[in-house]
Amino acid sequence: MEILLTGGTGMIGRALCAPLLAAGHRLTVLSRRPEQVEVLCGEGVQALVRLADWEPERHFDAVINLAGAPIVDRPWTAARRRVLWESRVTLTEELVAAIGRARTKPAVLLSGSAIGFYGDQGEAVCSDAQVESPLGHGMDFGGRLCAAWEAAARHAEGFGVRVCLLRTGLVLARQGGFYARLHLPFSLGLGTRLGHGRQWMSWIHIEDYVGAVLALLRDDTLRGAYNLTAPQPARNAAFTVALAASLHRPAFFVAPACLIRLGLGQRAYFLLGGQKVLPQRLEAAGFTFRHAVLAEALAALAR
Ligand SMILES: NC(=O)c1ccc[n+]([C@@H]2O[C@H](COP(=O)([O-])OP(=O)(O)OC[C@H]3O[C@@H](n4cnc5c(N)ncnc54)[C@H](OP(=O)(O)O)[C@@H]3O)[C@@H](O)[C@H]2O)c1
Repeated sequence: MEILLTGGTGMIGRALCAPLLAAGHRLTVLSRRPEQVEVLCGEGVQALVRLADWEPERHFDAVINLAGAPIVDRPWTAARRRVLWESRVTLTEELVAAIGRARTKPAVLLSGSAIGFYGDQGEAVCSDAQVESPLGHGMDFGGRLCAAWEAAARHAEGFGVRVCLLRTGLVLARQGGFYARLHLPFSLGLGTRLGHGRQWMSWIHIEDYVGAVLALLRDDTLRGAYNLTAPQPARNAAFTVALAASLHRPAFFVAPACLIRLGLGQRAYFLLGGQKVLPQRLEAAGFTFRHAVLAEALAALAR
């Protein structure tokens, strides 16, 4: 297949490129750093600098849309919110417009989203059968961002494109993201529970994320929203103990919620809130997880 990938130079995108190339697909990566594309994504991967450069005659069989500015790194000032919005919602709108201009449309668009779509859900189980966020108009910025990102992608259905939305949980990978950030402090025995520690963390091992994307790409009966999370979410306290144990270290510390709120403002929700998300539609589609159990997934990463 000819595949166009946005966000292909990112942590998840790079993990996807190797198996896609190994399966014989040809990749083009939309990137603001075209000179880095072959280095980061693999030999023979082409770069596309602007969507406007996608000529209508150029055919892609599939589009995978993962671009997005990092969400937790910086305070959500008005300027930062604009960057977060434009790099996801506006970029997806432009991508769908380019799909509309293409003479032959791709068969499928797999488009990013996140479990932040559900907002802070406490003990409620978040099912991907839900099309609308349970918080409705009460959604926070993260929820609104995901809802608009999904809605922009769904417009491709109007061009006869099969659309799958990747409601992604915390991706655990050595190469970056949440796990890589926690690795050093936990390795030093500085593992820390966040607040009361009862908040749910819905995680997925990077190998299962890649496997799920390949399954959604292959099976043309699958469409709509999919929770990309392992079947056993963990509470923060259990996650903290499991991560420390996987690195053979204790985890004695507790970060008080008030200090986290003081330091992170609105973004504190990522650490103190959470959602218990289950991959009901992936499992119903017959997907089996290689890393369904947290202790085993963390042990595999620590090896
Ligand atoms: N990692 C997770 O745990 C997680 C969880 C839930 C959802 N997600 C979502 O999944 C997607 C991929 O995640 P990731 O961890 O691989 O992210 P990442 O490593 O930060 O990579 C994101 C990519 O997006 C592009 N990008 C960044 N800022 C941009 C901007 N201002 N305008 C246009 N493009 C921009 C970059 O490509 P270029 O520099 O090549 O242009 C970058 O390689 C993201 O949209 C993220 O929100 C990730």
